[in-house]
Amino acid sequence: MCGIVGYSGPNNSVGPIIEGLSRLEYRGYDSAGICLKINNELQILKKEGKLDNLKSLIQEKKPFSHTGIGHTRWATHGAVTADNAHPHGNDLFAVVHNGIIENAGVLKKELQAEGFEFKSQTDSEVFLVLLTKFYLETKNVLLSISKSFSTITGNSAFVIIEKNTDKLYCLKRSAPLVVGDNQQTREAFVSSDPFALVGFAPRIYFPEDSIICESSVSENGVKINFYELDLTPSDRYKIQSNAMSVDTTNKGIYEHFMLKEIHEQPSLIEKIAAYYIKNEGRKILDQIKNFKTSCWHLTACGTAWHAGLVIKNYFEQINRQRASVEIASEFRYKNPIINENEIGLFISQSGETADTLACQELCREKGISSFAIVNVEGSTLFRNADKNFLIHAGVEIGVASTKAFTLQVLTGYLMSRAMSGTLDDPNLFVELKLLSNRVSELCADSEKIKKIAEKIYTQKGFIFTGRGKYFPIALEGALKLKEIAYVHAEGYAAGELKHGPIALIDEEIVNIAVVGPELFEKTISNVEEVKARRGKVVVIGPEKSEELEHLSDFYLGLNFHGLNDLSPLYVNVALQFLSYHIAYLKGTDIDKPRNLAKSVTVE
Ligand code: F6R
Repeated sequence: MCGIVGYSGPNNSVGPIIEGLSRLEYRGYDSAGICLKINNELQILKKEGKLDNLKSLIQEKKPFSHTGIGHTRWATHGAVTADNAHPHGNDLFAVVHNGIIENAGVLKKELQAEGFEFKSQTDSEVFLVLLTKFYLETKNVLLSISKSFSTITGNSAFVIIEKNTDKLYCLKRSAPLVVGDNQQTREAFVSSDPFALVGFAPRIYFPEDSIICESSVSENGVKINFYELDLTPSDRYKIQSNAMSVDTTNKGIYEHFMLKEIHEQPSLIEKIAAYYIKNEGRKILDQIKNFKTSCWHLTACGTAWHAGLVIKNYFEQINRQRASVEIASEFRYKNPIINENEIGLFISQSGETADTLACQELCREKGISSFAIVNVEGSTLFRNADKNFLIHAGVEIGVASTKAFTLQVLTGYLMSRAMSGTLDDPNLFVELKLLSNRVSELCADSEKIKKIAEKIYTQKGFIFTGRGKYFPIALEGALKLKEIAYVHAEGYAAGELKHGPIALIDEEIVNIAVVGPELFEKTISNVEEVKARRGKVVVIGPEKSEELEHLSDFYLGLNFHGLNDLSPLYVNVALQFLSYHIAYLKGTDIDKPRNLAKSVTVE
């Protein structure tokens, strides 16, 4: 969702701010702005739409400033307009904000009654006005920040600059925010994501909630002070070196990040296998060797929820342990039945998804341990977990999650194998290598999937079906298609079709049927039901089957042999390619689909 970048130092702040915002573009936004402190004045430039619009304005004005803040906004309160874009500022302060101020409506009315004026419809401006009010009363910046922050409710991150100094102030509550420094170049940074600071800030600070961070730059270097809200010094922050590489911002030979990330999967599968079976990750999995709990509570959103559905099957079938998988936004409000000694397992690529974080907090309140399957080390989910199982997918830039799904599932699978004490089974490594090879083959020959896409991309709707371990893959296939191709798609358990959705079937509907080797005949009967109603059928099933060839309009034969529990991942990569090619033919914005954000930090 929204992106934040702030800079203070000897150089022109415009460069690192715009570069940082460009790197965060993939997260989704609808307007962008920058505030620069120039000659003790705060100058704001904002534009609706893509960052390029702001870049053109900057090109025209050529501003130079040692201190500034920038923001890409994903609208929550107020329409997508330049006025509602951030930063919000006046002649004292400028503010950028991620998150939601829940009591903004009430506060705004009170402030208006006191005579304060508002220029936008946003909740964010309420923070600026509070800050101004408290500063006029106290003439103390830190105190005004603390008072304003204590007045608002909801999860938010703020960065603030003021006209009198070159300091950067920031603080947050359950929202991502990091501070960075480079002592050699005497530069201070703030961002909602360390990725924006790669190559700029070798050292990153992760403040905990409700800590005010004050960064100042002088000839002696960068000084970062941390304060509690009562303004006493705080040590509630962690420091980490920023080990990410700038290469990850590059599409390389691929036309889209999504395509690049699909192609990264074979090597990532081998890496995660080596990491958790043979290398450093092994000691993490050994901690759960023969581990048992009466119930796992898996919660996640979107694609990560689908990964949870696959992992549930592993825990139940391999470990015979009960596992419930719930959509995080449902779990958090349902007063779930949680007993002691059960485990909360939270799955998230970003580690910043608001609903998933709320479930983690709920489980913490109920006194059960929190495990996380997460990609971003240092994210809020990671920091609040008792045990972390990193998926090591690298930065995922395509908004549609591909490689993260594969690695979330594999990490869950390896956890399951650790719990059953079978990590040293030589067949395990062979099976994982086989998966990597089969995915490589699909990558090398995705033309055949493209040919199917060419035949069906103009159809009105798509129903993905699968049984057993392929049911979550049907859900994931449908989600991927709808999010990047903007076409109606649903995922169903194949046996469920006749209980309602079959009414939709006609010649304009395509059934993408995953027919695995298990329950083969039964799944085929479901496909027959669609054929009988003139639906078009794409069958993805075991290769060289005359029956499937005959049954389907289009047949993608795959080699399931030897993949066993990992075959859903293999099929899923085929579906990733299918969605990609359909979206490509439809000409959509594949890496940044409309209305979507990479990291959903509001509920
Ligand atoms: C779909 C997609 C989303 C995310 C969901 C959870 O392609 O990317 O459905 O999976 O928003 O995000 P994380 O995994 O960051 O918690």
